[in-house]
Amino acid sequence: MTDPIPTDIVIDCDPGIDDAIALLLAIACSDRVRLSSITTTHGNVGLALTARNACKVRSLAGRPDVPVHAGCPRPLTAPLHDAAHIHGDNGLGGVDLPDGEGGLAAVHGVDALIAEAERGRTLIAVGPLTNVAVALIKCPDLAARWPRLVIMGGGVAAGNVTPAAEFNIFTDPEAARTVLTTTEWPENARPVLFPLDATHQALLGPDWIADLSASGGPICRAVAGMLGGYETPSTVERGGKCVHDAMAVAWTIRPDLFETRPARIDVVTDSGTARGRTIADFASGEPTADVATDVDAPAFIGWLKEKLIALDALRGGDS
Ligand code: RIB
Ligand code: CA
Repeated sequence: MTDPIPTDIVIDCDPGIDDAIALLLAIACSDRVRLSSITTTHGNVGLALTARNACKVRSLAGRPDVPVHAGCPRPLTAPLHDAAHIHGDNGLGGVDLPDGEGGLAAVHGVDALIAEAERGRTLIAVGPLTNVAVALIKCPDLAARWPRLVIMGGGVAAGNVTPAAEFNIFTDPEAARTVLTTTEWPENARPVLFPLDATHQALLGPDWIADLSASGGPICRAVAGMLGGYETPSTVERGGKCVHDAMAVAWTIRPDLFETRPARIDVVTDSGTARGRTIADFASGEPTADVATDVDAPAFIGWLKEKLIALDALRGGDS
């Protein structure tokens, strides 16, 4: 059987610890996905830091060739809101990565997303959806031409910023509603949505982190260090860390690890306590997304570790 042709992808992100791991996983799987560019948004930390962190991570992975485009510095209308209390003031759990070579691309992140969509590249969006929403506003017919959109965001049963709202949606609900209520996607290519209901199913525990650090080289040790600085209320109560964003990348490469169900999505944008809530109507006859509901968690975390160790080996490990 001939090898599948790698899928060209672009990742819109707010690195962010799990964003960093998502980028490393994509680069580790270059036989299956070709990371053609990275766009960054405000989110876990401010835009200047998310852009700088994306450059640091691509250099850590030995891919300074991947262009990084800085996008929108703030939400459409909501006040700026970050998660530095979770991802650390530097956005990478306090791990100090070298800047590496190459700077930021001159093209704005939104324009890069539009160009990548027009080239038929899959978008994996793992931060607030401001860049994606502005791209759809700037090019109204873009949705019909986007081959595939995979989004980490939302919480059907519960949020993680408020009881109702997950961070990526809460940070820019107006942008999320613009994206998640769009209906002009290509036939059979609705966005795939990874909410907390799926991402919370896979936990990286202390043994997994220790084994990764012991088994790999600089990349694995950096990931272990970042995870060590990644504390959220849910990781404490669950006894493990959730790499939400890496799961969205994983779907693009190993869809067999996940189950999805079609649903019509809406996002609450009023100013009440439900602001930023994602509503998934799984009974709708007019679904607007395929929502991840089940994860083969042991297979996912085992495969993730294998890929990160392999990336270190490819990069020459500790040599
Ligand atoms: O709620 C989890 C999401 O918010 C992840 O994308 C994480 O990086 C933060 O941005
Ligand atoms: Ca993120």
